[in-house]
Amino acid sequence: MKLRGTMTVKENHLFIGGCDAVELARRFGTPLYVLDEAHLRSQARAYIEGFSRAYPDFKVVYAGKALLTAAICRIIEEEGLYLDVVSGGELYTALFAGFPADRIVFHGNNKSPEELQMALEHGVHRIVVDNLYELELLDAFTRRSGARASILLRVTPGVEAHTHSYIQTGQIDSKFGFGLAGGQAYEATRRALALERVELAGFHCHIGSQIFDLRPFEAAVQVMFGFFDEVRRGLGFVPRELDLGGGLGIRYVEGDVSVDPKFFAEQLAAAVRREAERLGFPLPTLMVEPGRSIVGEAGTTLYTVGSVKEIPGLRTYVAVDGGMADNPRVALYQASYEAVVANKAAEPPSQVVSVAGKYCESGDMLIWDLKVPPLEPGDILAVLATGAYNYSMASNYNRIPRPAMVLVADGAADVIVERETYADLVRLDRIPARLRDARDEAAAARDRAVASSDRERRP
Ligand code: LLP
Repeated sequence: MKLRGTMTVKENHLFIGGCDAVELARRFGTPLYVLDEAHLRSQARAYIEGFSRAYPDFKVVYAGKALLTAAICRIIEEEGLYLDVVSGGELYTALFAGFPADRIVFHGNNKSPEELQMALEHGVHRIVVDNLYELELLDAFTRRSGARASILLRVTPGVEAHTHSYIQTGQIDSKFGFGLAGGQAYEATRRALALERVELAGFHCHIGSQIFDLRPFEAAVQVMFGFFDEVRRGLGFVPRELDLGGGLGIRYVEGDVSVDPKFFAEQLAAAVRREAERLGFPLPTLMVEPGRSIVGEAGTTLYTVGSVKEIPGLRTYVAVDGGMADNPRVALYQASYEAVVANKAAEPPSQVVSVAGKYCESGDMLIWDLKVPPLEPGDILAVLATGAYNYSMASNYNRIPRPAMVLVADGAADVIVERETYADLVRLDRIPARLRDARDEAAAARDRAVASSDRERRP
């Protein structure tokens, strides 16, 4: 078991960011998302340093879909990264945190007119246009308001990356972006160039996620430069920017070997230089959009062990107080995780158990066949590498409040997302008049009393 980031073991307890995980669980309750600030920052820095050394003009754009909260926005800003948002809600979160709009890249395959307008009003850095409908909307909005939109076009390069391999199919069967193969990307470029207040800076592609092999990225660079050449010859357009998306893999379990962002930067920069030189292009501004590789291994989820069900000769199920609603990746993608028993971190494993969640579904499993020391109710289980696509994809299935999140660094722990309460769960519920009865009158009277005492307390 390889501990991540700042994790250490002291006196049989797991420590993260200098904080005793058992103490964190006691103080903040479980399930609890714990984020190792130093690890997150060092990943962000590795990207910045790697590209600073390897390439003259670049932007590292953190993909907020992996994990976005107001505090994360602050850290991302401090580290000098740009931010990729994919919805009005993510944009709102960034603006709420005071993240500079001119460092935001706005993505999405079906941005609504309201979302596009919001992005324009706040003056985001780039809008990555995914389809002709968006292009038309942007044209109409910018003409009406006099604003300008600076865009990239998202292209489907036909390079499909899997964790350990890739295929180059030229296929265009994707809901994202303009296909190269069918001439759609070329046509979209032609149309974008004709728009008065929409400025086309370059192109974007994203080939997949949790990728370890860098060859598909190099293949994508080649394909994109091939397209650069096509639009230069056909339309006289020389793209200034190339955004290669996200996708670098992280270590979830033994056998996964995470790629150093510095190495990634070197390889990518070399591929871009090679192609630019080969085809006689000035070096474009190079953008990448890492999400998982920045926050993934910085996250740990702490759970409390509850019931232990032994099926003799078959399997031992250990149930924890969270599961598929705080980490849907196992049920959705058959993702694998490792875990440490935080209060028995130095004890050797003596049994194999399967960790189940508490949600009403057989598929609600977190880990199959985990080696652990003897377990009993009350133990704290720390599931590793849960920083990406856990909280951001969490739900309230079974009306269970979503966990809190704490940021740990140098022995201090700060809540960056409060634990939801039962009151939060019913906050948006409404009972139509025709279903109301005496109980609601009593509740309404209580609300009025609270409101008036609030008014009295106001200075
Ligand atoms: N840029 C674009 C346009 C993307 O679509 C994505 C991820 C990223 C950047 C960031 O990719 P990353 O560096 O995090 O791999 N929910 C799935 C992952 C979905 C990724 C979607 N796009 C999971 O939990 O594995």
